[in-house]
Amino acid sequence: MSGKTLTERAVEVLTCADGREKTAISKAHAEAWVAARDSGKPMEVGTASPPLRPARPEKPELLAPRDVPRRRPGTPAGRIALLHAVAHIELNAVDLHWDIIARFGDAGMPLGFYDDWVKAAAEESKHFNLVCDRLEAMGSFYGALPAHAGMWRAAEDTAADLLGRLAVVPMVLEARGLDVTPGMIEIFRKAGETETIAALEVIYAEEVGHVAYGSKWFNWLCGRAGADPKDEFHRLVRHYFHGALKPPFNEEKRAEAGLPPDFYWPLAEETPVKAG
Ligand SMILES: [Fe+2]
Ligand SMILES: [Fe+2]
Repeated sequence: MSGKTLTERAVEVLTCADGREKTAISKAHAEAWVAARDSGKPMEVGTASPPLRPARPEKPELLAPRDVPRRRPGTPAGRIALLHAVAHIELNAVDLHWDIIARFGDAGMPLGFYDDWVKAAAEESKHFNLVCDRLEAMGSFYGALPAHAGMWRAAEDTAADLLGRLAVVPMVLEARGLDVTPGMIEIFRKAGETETIAALEVIYAEEVGHVAYGSKWFNWLCGRAGADPKDEFHRLVRHYFHGALKPPFNEEKRAEAGLPPDFYWPLAEETPVKAG
């Protein structure tokens, strides 16, 4: 096991279908990377050929977003559906962080780039398990309900463009998580579900870091290329992201993550007529 490169390990995570198993492998590889870094003999990053899409369990059934049934959050079934959607997002996030590692092993990035995404992947693995534990405590499980297909689209679209990947995944999609998580925590607070609140608070705190890693390496790459980060961000989000950004924004947490208002507001103001 010790001879494997980081990108080979990333592919192992991506090609494992089962959620609990995938996150266990993810955690073990993250620990091996950190141990090697701490010993002063970093693991080789290497290069690999990741699959275009990660392996997925047979359940949940993946449906187009418009076909996923909506349930009212004021009911226990509605809260289970909400947590099920979060579990699905977390599982995709595990794969997204390993995918950026697997796909961009030869991008000439400093080791700190891999440190950050390995840490993020380990945190997403924890998030997935925290949410699955809550679902199981509530009498459900990940796979019991249908989930959104298409969550991997941003990854496919940016499979050959590291700057585009950073703009769309951590700086748009994960930043959106910062906007909506406080409202979600409020739903569970109203229901008095303390353990779920605790899990969501962990997720909320750690997601700021993932957006910050995105912003940090996006700016670093722009600096290396002599490009203006704000202009590049606008260009890439318009190119790869389908639709406008949705206010209200969590200005405070976005600032903490290094995302200034002049990055995201101009992309929200182009809001086309809302479809569906
Ligand atoms: Fe997460
Ligand atoms: Fe994340």
